Amino acid sequence: MVHEGASAMKQRKMTIVIDGPAGSGKSTVSKLVARRLGYAYLDTGALYRAVAYMLIAAGVEADDRDIVSKHLADAEIRCVKTPSGMFVQINGEDVTAHLRAEEVSLRASRISALPLVRAKLLPVQREAGRDGGIVAEGRDMATVVFPEAEVKIFLDADENERIKRRHRELAAREGRVQRARVAEGLRNRDRWDRTRAVAPLKPHADSVRIDTTRMSIDEVVEAVIAVINGHPSREFS
Ligand code: DC
Repeated sequence: MVHEGASAMKQRKMTIVIDGPAGSGKSTVSKLVARRLGYAYLDTGALYRAVAYMLIAAGVEADDRDIVSKHLADAEIRCVKTPSGMFVQINGEDVTAHLRAEEVSLRASRISALPLVRAKLLPVQREAGRDGGIVAEGRDMATVVFPEAEVKIFLDADENERIKRRHRELAAREGRVQRARVAEGLRNRDRWDRTRAVAPLKPHADSVRIDTTRMSIDEVVEAVIAVINGHPSREFS
């Protein structure tokens, strides 16, 4: 019977959230941690990017509240779960292939300051994380979207290191990219993400902060797993 109880507890899956600025290692680490735990991985930045892409594709240039509101009203935005991961669908279209361009990154950061955009995406994120067993990454996972998450992590790194990582990532995908442009884009996004009035990027009071500047990916993953293993409910999982 003790065993049955223990195995029932074993089914309890946690919600792990990882917040942090661009280049902090969030995405890579979140994916690897999710894989280690057998949990789903939720990339909430992809939702903001998807909205940005939708506006760009529709030729909307201004981040005007009324225009954005009109486009969002009819849009059906979903996180679709598949055995190999989640992807974002807008009006039935898988938009994954369009999300990583620098133009989309910058626009996503700008439109994410609009309360109506955040309000539209909040239930989509909560629905995706409803059953737990998830590693969700973003900017406001701990402070707004999943404040009840058992484990809250905030990853950070020195600005220069974050620029270096972002530059490497973009150069690998797009070929030659100017470092100065990458630096400018990252600094702008940082400023917008940290200073917006609604759900700005910041750690929750309970967040465990990890400075990844001088750490390898593996070291960060191990540090996060150690925090998870140290959580009381993990004794039974
Ligand atoms: O994590 P990312 O670079 O894919 O996110 C793109 C932009 O989306 C980011 O600059 C700010 C916004 N974002 C947000 O405001 N809240 C989130 N939870 C995730 C992303």
